[in-house]
Amino acid sequence: MNGDGAERQSAWQAARAAEPLLAEAGVPEARFEAEYLARTAAGISRAQYFAGAPLDDDGRQRFEGFLERRIRREPSAYLAGEREFRTRTFAVGPGVLVPRPETEMLVDIGLDAVRGGARTVLEVGTGSGAVAVSLAAELSPGDARVVATDLSARAILVARANARRHAARVDFVLADLAGPIGRADVVLANLPYIPSGEIDALEPEVSRWEPRLALDGGDDGYALIRRLLQDCATRLRPRLLALEVGFGQAPDVAKLVHATGANAEVLVDFNAIERIVVAQWP
Ligand SMILES: C[S@@+](CC[C@H](N)C(=O)[O-])C[C@H]1O[C@@H](n2cnc3c(N)ncnc32)[C@H](O)[C@@H]1O
Repeated sequence: MNGDGAERQSAWQAARAAEPLLAEAGVPEARFEAEYLARTAAGISRAQYFAGAPLDDDGRQRFEGFLERRIRREPSAYLAGEREFRTRTFAVGPGVLVPRPETEMLVDIGLDAVRGGARTVLEVGTGSGAVAVSLAAELSPGDARVVATDLSARAILVARANARRHAARVDFVLADLAGPIGRADVVLANLPYIPSGEIDALEPEVSRWEPRLALDGGDDGYALIRRLLQDCATRLRPRLLALEVGFGQAPDVAKLVHATGANAEVLVDFNAIERIVVAQWP
C-alpha cells in the first residue's frame, strides 16, 4: 500500500503492463526492454525485480518518462545515460554513438599489440571513448601511451568524462582523423562506414537518434576508411591498423588495404561476422 491507501505496483507488474505499448511502437524485444526500463527507473537489480520490488512514486514517474521516450524509439542507452562495454560502464547520450559489443575486439587487438612491444596506440573516432579508455584502464601504468581523436567536440567531452570516471590516462585530441598526431605504433578505428543513402532505412534508434557524423561513411561507406588508410600508408606508418567494418564490407576493405601495399587479415566477431580488417605494412 502507498500513502493514499492504494496498492503499489511492483516494477515487474509495471513492466508487464507497459510491454504491449512498446511492442506496438515496434520496439524489438519489448519484454526485455520494459524490464530494463522498469529496473533502471526503480534502481533495482534483476533479482529484486523478479522478487517483486515496488516501484515508488519517483520511480513510476521516471518509468513513464522513459516509456514516452522509448516509444519514440530513442535508444535505451540514452535513457539510462550509460552503456556497459567490456567490464566498465560508460556515459553516453545524444551526440555520441552507443558503443556496441562487437567493437570490444579492438581493445583486445590493442592489448596484444602492446604486449608485442607497441608503445603508442591511437584510436581514431573515439566517440564515448569506450575503446581508448578500456585499453588504457586495462594496461599497466607506463605500458603504452594511448591517444584518441574525434571530429566531434561533444564526443571528446563525453570521452574525457569517461576517462576520469575510470581513472584512465588517455590524451584526447579534437581532430580530423589522425589530425596532427605524428606517431603511432598501432591505430584502432571504428569509423563511420554506412553508405549515406542507406542510413534512413536503418532502425529508428540509429537513423533518428544516433549522430550522423558517427554513421555516414560517404557514397560507398568507405570515404573515411580510404582517407585513414592513405594517411597510415604514407605518413603515420604504424605497425598495424585495425578497422572495424560493417556486414559484408570486409572483402572491399581488404582490397583497399592491399592497394596501399599492406597485408590484410580479416577477423570474425562472436556472431561469426567478418568484423575487423587488420592492415600491416611490410
Ligand atoms: C562509428 S563511431 C565510433 C565511436 C566509438 N569509437 C565506438 O566504437 O563506440 C565513429 C566516430 O568517428 C567520429 N568521426 C567521424 N568523422 C570523423 C573524422 N573525420 N575525424 C575524426 N573522427 C570522426 C564520429 O564523431 C564518431 O564518434
